[in-house]
Amino acid sequence: MRFLGLWRLLLLSLLHSPLLVCCSDAGKQDNPRLQLSHTDLRLRNNSAVFWDAGEGGAYQALLLDEDRGWLLVGARDHIYMLNSDSLKQPARKIHWPAGQEHIERCKYAGKNLSVDCANYVRLLQPFNKTHVYVCGTGAFHPQCTYIDLGHNLEKPTFRLLNHVGESGRGKCPFSPQERFTARLTDGDLYAGTSVDFMGTNAAIFRTSVHSSNQHYMRSEAYQDHWLNEPEFVGSYSIPDTHSLDDDKVYFFFKETAVESNQLDKRIYSRVARVCKNDIGGKRSLINRWSTFLKARLVCSVPEPGGMDTHFDELEDIFLLETKDPQNPVIYGVFSTSSSVFRGSAVCVYSMASIRASFNGPFAHKESPDYRWMEYKGKIPYPRPGTCPSETYDALHKSTRDFPDDVVSFMRNHQLMWEPVMPIHRHPVFTRIHTPYRLKKLVVDRVDAEDGQYDENFKTEEIVLEELHVFKTQSPILSMELSTKRQVLFVSSEENVVQLPVQRCELYGKACVDCCLARDPYCAWDGSSCTNYFPSNKRRARRQDVRYGDPWSQCQDMREGSEHAELKTVYGVETNTTFLECVPRSSQATVKWIFQPNLSQNSKELIAGEENLIHMQRGLLLQHLASANAGLYLCVAFEHSFSRTLARYELHIIPENQMSRAQNNHPGNHAASTLSFKELHLIGAGGLTADEYCEHFWYREKRRQQKLRSLKWKQVTENRKARVRRQNPPNEPLGGGETADFS
Ligand SMILES: *[C@@H]1O[C@H](CO)[C@@H](O)[C@H](O)[C@H]1NC(C)=O
Ligand SMILES: *[C@@H]1O[C@H](CO)[C@@H](O)[C@H](O)[C@H]1NC(C)=O
Ligand SMILES: *[C@@H]1O[C@H](CO)[C@@H](O)[C@H](O)[C@H]1NC(C)=O
Ligand SMILES: *[C@@H]1O[C@H](CO)[C@@H](O)[C@H](O)[C@H]1NC(C)=O
Ligand SMILES: *[C@@H]1O[C@H](CO)[C@@H](O)[C@H](O)[C@H]1NC(C)=O
Repeated sequence: MRFLGLWRLLLLSLLHSPLLVCCSDAGKQDNPRLQLSHTDLRLRNNSAVFWDAGEGGAYQALLLDEDRGWLLVGARDHIYMLNSDSLKQPARKIHWPAGQEHIERCKYAGKNLSVDCANYVRLLQPFNKTHVYVCGTGAFHPQCTYIDLGHNLEKPTFRLLNHVGESGRGKCPFSPQERFTARLTDGDLYAGTSVDFMGTNAAIFRTSVHSSNQHYMRSEAYQDHWLNEPEFVGSYSIPDTHSLDDDKVYFFFKETAVESNQLDKRIYSRVARVCKNDIGGKRSLINRWSTFLKARLVCSVPEPGGMDTHFDELEDIFLLETKDPQNPVIYGVFSTSSSVFRGSAVCVYSMASIRASFNGPFAHKESPDYRWMEYKGKIPYPRPGTCPSETYDALHKSTRDFPDDVVSFMRNHQLMWEPVMPIHRHPVFTRIHTPYRLKKLVVDRVDAEDGQYDENFKTEEIVLEELHVFKTQSPILSMELSTKRQVLFVSSEENVVQLPVQRCELYGKACVDCCLARDPYCAWDGSSCTNYFPSNKRRARRQDVRYGDPWSQCQDMREGSEHAELKTVYGVETNTTFLECVPRSSQATVKWIFQPNLSQNSKELIAGEENLIHMQRGLLLQHLASANAGLYLCVAFEHSFSRTLARYELHIIPENQMSRAQNNHPGNHAASTLSFKELHLIGAGGLTADEYCEHFWYREKRRQQKLRSLKWKQVTENRKARVRRQNPPNEPLGGGETADFS
């Protein structure tokens, strides 16, 4: 069952991906359908709420509590508590500055007093029912403590336990700029960060939070094959089997690749993991991970001839939970480090492919003069990377019981030979030759009648085109999605913004716009494009929208182009005139149709024709001549659908008749009666809106069915293969993967 669940989700996310769904005209399709500026967002009611009432800015950390309705914001020297229903509600705040002696030391060490020597709150993690764990840079002297929220859910306490101050080394970076990751789970904090002033000693750490227990674990320092100038992106605790002994923490980061050619320094993205019950070795690897493995995460576009385009730099990672806690779906947004072109891509990974890499061959380097190769020698038992578990082997209760050959193998073999490939071996979304990089990603699951859609929000200055959230082009520092409230919280240096994920009304007032948007958040209710909540009641309505009668309510399409009012325009011979026409959707292609007079056929005006200039906002006619007189239609094409956006009747006034022009009444209104149908047939597919929609949904349904049967076949085959491999055979299907004793 879990495969089926996974598949439905992914399949639909692929169908929904603009790049793969529909695109013969990929370049155009890649654009977001809606482009809103910062001003648009500010002006439109309910589109966005901006909160900028904080004192120090630098809103780096967000923590959302859906049930209790608050959003904690970690900032410079402050922690704020906002109301997640509306950022307009007053905020509460805690002042938490760095110690004066640390500020002094920070300054004397040559750091920039105004930029670096403050307490940047960078970590907020739920600790228990009443407390949140919080860490800040403390002016290059990281510190951690707790925020007490109390038991009263309506009115939380919101108080800092100042007296508990704990060292933040190995939990939070020294620098406000360094990228890091940390995850608090079962009382332990797992972090990928540096532990020194210079930021050169980076490692994956585990420190105990609640107890006086001083035990810690880390990756070996200054050893390239463990970690090589890593930049951490994310970390998650993911169970591997039904046994708690097999629980692991996964890290996502990028680093300088040791295995690539030494001469050209390449960055690769990685997924790494450690066992939660790893306590290091007994004689060697003391306080060092003895189960640390890593593999390359590949996100590339296959090209004929094997010269794939690689997106090597992981920018953000998002874990989409499924019903099966062992198998969340991993979304990564990557950019390219190529000097030739800039671009970004989103790739999706299954846990199965990640586990397969960790269960596969190890990478090996004989000595400094050799190249990295696949390790073909004997692999010790228990297989390195396996978590110790009494249930598997009574001899190995903990990692300290591992035989010496396992521990010494683990000292040199962290890297797996096989990379992790994305689902379908292809990104689900790419954007290339853009002046920006995608930096952040949030994936929401939208329950729809026939499965689940994935809504990818791709953001940053990316916001750039889709939503210019911020006035200045400041990068997004953090994002939190509230599925309950259907809003996205986005933070930057200067603001926290609350954005509804549903902006259906912005798609326009026409049924067909609603349909063409194909936004799973929106549905046509008969009179407007409205928000769609995945409740049963609305679900029925949505279904109607797809297959039933309501499309006949797309009257604006049926009745033709009457709503594009005929405008009469006068131009003076040899002068210039401009016919405005701005499509609502940026995915639409605009064409101009010209009909000189009734007795003549209409023709499309091609760009570059004599005195005509096609501009983004309309048609510019220079040096007007009498031959320019006639009917002009601005038609927008999107998919196989077309419609008239504007109609102009242009009259040319001879230069020498200028004085009489105003009385010269134009009679030829008949020209405007060119019917919508006729115009329509000019379009490629010649489909009406409802035909288009029906056609579209039908096609997708068929494709789904096809893929479903295909996938079933694959799943069954996988299972057979696995059952064959599996030993002992009574191991449940979900297990086994990590406990590979081969
Ligand atoms: C926004 O709401 C205000 C007050 O309710 C109203 O006056 C204004 O016209 C609205 N603006 C838009 C663009 O709907
Ligand atoms: C500190 O940084 C700010 C902002 O970048 C800059 O304006 C200022 O000159 C810097 N101060 C020093 C002492 O470098
Ligand atoms: C949560 O943790 C704090 C800090 O250790 C402790 O004081 C508090 O009693 C704990 N609360 C609960 C409900 O366990
Ligand atoms: C051409 O149009 C411009 C702008 O409308 C106007 O100022 C100018 O006088 C016109 N020239 C003639 C010759 O009508
Ligand atoms: C239509 O245009 C053509 C060519 O410009 C011209 O010869 C013809 O007389 C026009 N007919 C009418 C009815 O204006």
